Amino acid sequence: MDSKPGKYKVADMKLAEEGRRRIEWSESRMPVMMSLREEYKKSKPLKGYRIAGCLHVTKETAVLIETLVAAGAEVSWSGCNPLSTNDSVAAALAANGISIFAWHGMNVKEFYWCIEETLKFNPNLTLDDGADLIFTIHKSHPEMANKFVIGGTEETTTGVHRLRAMAADGALNYPVIAVNDAETKWDFDNVFGTGQSTLDGVLRATSVLFAGKNVVVAGYGHCGRGVASRAKGLGANVIVTEVKATAALKATLEGMRVMKMSDAAKVGDIFITATGVKDIITEPHFKSMKDGAIICNTGHYDCEINLEDLEKVAKGHRQIRENNEEYTLKNGNRLYVLAQGRLVNLAAAEGHPSEVMDMSFANQFMSQVRLAELHRKGKRLENTVHDIPVEQDQDIAMLKLRTMGFTIDKLTPEQRKYMSDYSAGT
Ligand SMILES: NC(=O)c1ccc[n+]([C@@H]2O[C@H](COP(=O)([O-])OP(=O)(O)OC[C@H]3O[C@@H](n4cnc5c(N)ncnc54)[C@H](O)[C@@H]3O)[C@@H](O)[C@H]2O)c1
Repeated sequence: MDSKPGKYKVADMKLAEEGRRRIEWSESRMPVMMSLREEYKKSKPLKGYRIAGCLHVTKETAVLIETLVAAGAEVSWSGCNPLSTNDSVAAALAANGISIFAWHGMNVKEFYWCIEETLKFNPNLTLDDGADLIFTIHKSHPEMANKFVIGGTEETTTGVHRLRAMAADGALNYPVIAVNDAETKWDFDNVFGTGQSTLDGVLRATSVLFAGKNVVVAGYGHCGRGVASRAKGLGANVIVTEVKATAALKATLEGMRVMKMSDAAKVGDIFITATGVKDIITEPHFKSMKDGAIICNTGHYDCEINLEDLEKVAKGHRQIRENNEEYTLKNGNRLYVLAQGRLVNLAAAEGHPSEVMDMSFANQFMSQVRLAELHRKGKRLENTVHDIPVEQDQDIAMLKLRTMGFTIDKLTPEQRKYMSDYSAGT
């Protein structure tokens, strides 16, 4: 472990060069972020602002961090999952003078230690993925929320759920922008990013053939839909479990079989949870699964697969390969749990491809700039969860299209008039 007190703690500074090459690869795939960096490095709208971030330390996140810094911010960072940090990227960031506290394979106590380290410089903006940072501030440093922090941003569905619950209780002490709910995030990152990278994680941890397998996807929301469609594309028979009638209906019309988890457990070869809800796979499901079944999660927290229940029905377990634990049940069946039930795409693979993070992080960046600009004008959003402005979504989508070499039509003045004219009929 390499550390400089108050500045960084990472696994191994010798990995910095490798990390820098990875970051450069992402930069070459993130044209929207790079054009924002170019634009805002001159005006420096974040100068004088201290941003604490708690988000997976990947090569794409490094592009976000270095763009925030180019725009004038001082940044202190920790990872938002004990298994998702890329150690070479963390080292490259530390070598570039970024204050970062993150390494792969930390325990929960270390996870919160890292968050605490990032809070030591009294941030005035927060950037979260899962709301652990915001929650730590509210629970352990309530004075910081009132005195220093002017606002925050949240990256993922589960974090937005937690924050909306806090806001409903009147317990949220500063405004937060729900980056997750932007169209250019939720409909791309969660669908195409999670879809592809989840399968990437399963493949790296198992190298199994998807074709012909019964793949059970729990949750047919944004992530689940992406995972299901990619698994289907590889030739799997996809089964969906849901609690929401419309989502289940969508799944059936999109060619998936829908059933209860208690039935799916008996026939599934690969199980992937993507609900953001706890106890999706529990003791009775483990007991009825086939010998050889593979189980993993791509939802934010490691509570979707109940590992305590699995321990109860297992005789023992051993690591069979990286990110793949074999549990032998008392009935003799072997079940394989990937990445300890944590986000399989980040723990066993590299997270989302740079191309989708380009848009998600453009939303993060623009939202941070917006909070700072409001503050500079002496304004502040209400202490609740806010959507990003519709124009920001469209601007980012347009910028992305342009970088991909596409142009689109514009409404003519007559079409615009027609759309707002309710007298026009047959
Ligand atoms: N792996 C990643 O990199 C990544 C990326 C984005 C989001 N996420 C996380 O993935 C999770 C899902 O996010 P999303 O954007 O798809 O949310 P979403 O709200 O769009 O979808 C969740 C779906 O799960 C269903 N569901 C809830 N309880 C269920 C149950 N008991 N059984 C079956 N289905 C159930 C809901 O009805 C809903 O359709 C969240 O925890 C989110 O934070 C992970």
